[in-house]
Amino acid sequence: MTNHVTLTQFIIEQQRELPGVSGTFTSLLNDVVTACKKISHLVNRGDLVGVLGSAGSENVQGEVQKKLDIITHDIMVDALNWTGHLAGMASEEMDGIIRIPPQYPKGKYLALFDPLDGSSNIDVNLAVGTIFSILRCREGVEPELEDFLRKGAEQVCAGFVLYGPSTMMVLTTGHGVNGFTLDQDIGEFILTHPGMTIPDETCEFAINMSNRRFWEEPVRRYIDECLQGSEGIREKDFNMRWIASMVAEVYRILTRGGVFMYPYDLRDPSKAGRLRLMYEANPMAFIIEQAGGACSTGRERVLDIMPTGLHQRVPVILGSKNEVGRIVDYHKNEGAVEAV
Ligand code: AHG
Ligand code: MN
Ligand code: MN
Repeated sequence: MTNHVTLTQFIIEQQRELPGVSGTFTSLLNDVVTACKKISHLVNRGDLVGVLGSAGSENVQGEVQKKLDIITHDIMVDALNWTGHLAGMASEEMDGIIRIPPQYPKGKYLALFDPLDGSSNIDVNLAVGTIFSILRCREGVEPELEDFLRKGAEQVCAGFVLYGPSTMMVLTTGHGVNGFTLDQDIGEFILTHPGMTIPDETCEFAINMSNRRFWEEPVRRYIDECLQGSEGIREKDFNMRWIASMVAEVYRILTRGGVFMYPYDLRDPSKAGRLRLMYEANPMAFIIEQAGGACSTGRERVLDIMPTGLHQRVPVILGSKNEVGRIVDYHKNEGAVEAV
């Protein structure tokens, strides 16, 4: 490999070009990197270090927690709560906001994270990840819930780490999307995928087909038309993937296009979707849009949603722009198809 730009070097150089940006943000990102390297190591060691299996507890959302859900949550909190870069945190695995312990200084950012995404995959040795979102906080205040409940469009940074055959970090600070591969030998993330972009068209979709009977008509229509392939109105054959790990699905879409959906379904009317807005949909929407794709609930741009709760769920339709546009059009109107 000839290109050895590290993540730290990349961020510092990117920040030099932005007026009024301090080194605090680079340091905060390094804290996240430290946590994700630890998680990567643990995920890789698996049963050798006894981290697989259920923890026998439930999180605030009534989901059974894996041991690693809890361990990775603790790793994130422990790496981020003492360095003075954050004013507060929120995690999938914790009901309320996470305050900075009083003995530590407080910074000007808020971090929200899904410490282990796709955790149903962990015991079957498939890809999992960590997703994070960074917001700016009003300076000098003890943040309350309202400080976290901000539109995704206000994120200053979003990223995820995919613990796959390689460990990769994908990051945006609002200036495109870049991918970094963890070089295990030197313990550094190296820029390997600069300027990631998503093709506008695709022949690949990702959805959990077992939920078909619960979907709304526009999603059913889109998927049925994909399944008709070259014999239907799309006049081309589609391929399907479902990894059950959003980080892995989004990474695939960033590398070869496609559309990913966890749409609204009628299983439980109290839940607007499966995925959580603040630490799954928003950071992924920011990354996808920065890579030239689109992300919608079917009825609204995800980044425009005014959140009402830390663990609020939303329908998610993301990926190649024209395909997302088509699905949005199906929601608007059962008839004509317009470009996005
Ligand atoms: P988490 O493990 O953080 O709860 O998230 C899992 C999410 C997402 O990554 C994935 O796309 C989806 O849930 C899988 O859901 P199904 O098991 O319903 O397919
Ligand atoms: Mn998740
Ligand atoms: Mn999770």
